[in-house]
Amino acid sequence: MKDRVGAILREEQERYLERLQPPRAPLLAEMEAWAADHGVPISDPEVGRLLELLAAAVALCRSGEASPPRILELGTAIGYGALVLARGSPEARITTIDRDAAMLARAGEYLGRAGVLDRVELLLGDALEVLETLDGPFAIAYVDAEKVHYRRYLDRILPRLEVGGLVLFDNLLWKGRVAEPREDEDAAADALRAFNGYFMIHPQLRSQVLAIGDGFGIGTKIRPLIQELGGPY
Ligand SMILES: C[S@@+](CC[C@H](N)C(=O)[O-])C[C@H]1O[C@@H](n2cnc3c(N)ncnc32)[C@H](O)[C@@H]1O
Repeated sequence: MKDRVGAILREEQERYLERLQPPRAPLLAEMEAWAADHGVPISDPEVGRLLELLAAAVALCRSGEASPPRILELGTAIGYGALVLARGSPEARITTIDRDAAMLARAGEYLGRAGVLDRVELLLGDALEVLETLDGPFAIAYVDAEKVHYRRYLDRILPRLEVGGLVLFDNLLWKGRVAEPREDEDAAADALRAFNGYFMIHPQLRSQVLAIGDGFGIGTKIRPLIQELGGPY
């Protein structure tokens, strides 16, 4: 239990946790540097490490199953998230969607160099529209596309997620603006504030929001909808 409010969420703690991160694999470090140089937002390294850990845990829990886990990512950018997920789950098939063709091309290059491209399906298009065309079930879904659509993404992902599967969200604390509204409120902060409440009380989920990176949500699907069971009768 934390000592008091403000005991942990302070700059010194954040810097300490950053220093605690071990050096990344050379290709991941190269991707981080390229993204920083070109102003492309990618997952924070500590989020990357958490994604890799969760993918590994899911893979280990499922070892012995006939089919490899399927992982979905909304928002590919240069493929950093897809790569850490692929590293964590060496058998997984990954589907990742981005509306930016140049980003997808760069992701393809990096994933090829990492030797995982044969397990990754790169889909071009709007995440909401492409999602409608996909069949599940996925073992993990990582959402990192348009913040104002997070609730719509969750609603479309849940029927495509295995019971026991994980749904993960980046940026839930959005630059600190979700917890501390500003005069120049942006649409993303407003939408994420509403989303976080929905995510925490969703009856199909056990969920939590973690103060890691820009705020990270993790939920597991605990029950199917009646429609997923073939109902209503
Ligand atoms: C933060 S980056 C993704 C980072 C990546 N998930 C990672 O782990 O490094 C967000 C990406 O979402 C894409 N994006 C934003 N809105 C989108 C939409 N409506 N449909 C598909 N992709 C979208 C952007 O083009 C951008 O590449």
